[in-house]
Amino acid sequence: MLVKPILKPDPSPPALPVGFDPEKHLAYQPPPKVLKMADIGYPKDTGISPFATCEAFPLFTQEAIRIMRAEVFTEEVWDNCLYLAANASGCHIRGHCPKYAKFMHDALTHPRTLKIISEIAGIDLVPVMDSEVGSILVASSPESVVQHRLANGKGDSAPGQVTNWHYDHYSFVCVVMLSDTTGMVGGETAIQLGNGSVQRVRGPDVGSATVLQGRFINHQALAAQGGRERISMVTSYRPRDPMVNDDVSLKYITRITDIPELYYQFGDYRLEILEGRIRQMRKAFRGRHDAGKSLDISALKGFLEQQIKHLEVTNEEILTLDKLKTGKQYGGGEIFRSIIKS
Ligand SMILES: [Fe+2]
Repeated sequence: MLVKPILKPDPSPPALPVGFDPEKHLAYQPPPKVLKMADIGYPKDTGISPFATCEAFPLFTQEAIRIMRAEVFTEEVWDNCLYLAANASGCHIRGHCPKYAKFMHDALTHPRTLKIISEIAGIDLVPVMDSEVGSILVASSPESVVQHRLANGKGDSAPGQVTNWHYDHYSFVCVVMLSDTTGMVGGETAIQLGNGSVQRVRGPDVGSATVLQGRFINHQALAAQGGRERISMVTSYRPRDPMVNDDVSLKYITRITDIPELYYQFGDYRLEILEGRIRQMRKAFRGRHDAGKSLDISALKGFLEQQIKHLEVTNEEILTLDKLKTGKQYGGGEIFRSIIKS
């Protein structure tokens, strides 16, 4: 593996396990500024709520961040959960929640945390699925990105970015910074505005977070200059109400996730949405009939068409294994040991 993740391990990590306590581990203060879709020049009805993004706000205490780091910076997690980003600009650690990182999982899925994120986003949200809870992105050294791309016959290396320009796979993301960003140059998120221009949004400080309706906004994460550690933790959220459209694409995710587990979780939650919708529709359908009202044929047909589309998307996103490429890195524990020693 040519790519060298930048990681400064804690010399005296906290002893685990630790239980998540919202009174002790949440440090929430509201974002200084919230931007709506209309504020960034997008049509008002873009996405599933008027919210676009917000300035960084404190979410977790320093102690909570130290516990989360201790949970994921272990040989066992790196051995089982390490994937290389497609553009070689970093490594992903995924699929560790809740198996290896219970504190992190509980912190990101706690009702108090969900309430905070939902209030900011202007819509009641739940985590998409466990696979998308606490996904870690560790930026790599710019030199190793260049080397990796040259070794793969690509001369167009772009070390100034952690991700390419993209739309997220799910409606909302909450990004929490796990690195100390004091004095950091770079490391922002760039978002494309409605008029095509680009605005850089300052990234969060350690323990702080930002929320983005990233399925509908073109954006990219920029690298920190000078080989600084830049580790972010991304959790994806979807609407709690099953009747709201769940816009999703698994395209890149399949490269950086254990496929059978991803498809199990994806299939399960998409069917859960369908189950919730059918239950609600039947209640309304029967209630109307019991009240002596005639059938609303166009409402029923509209509902059926929405479910056909939902099942079509679910089916199209699940590919057979021969069509998939994995970014899984074997021997990740060895890579982790070499970082600790260097
Ligand atoms: Fe993103």
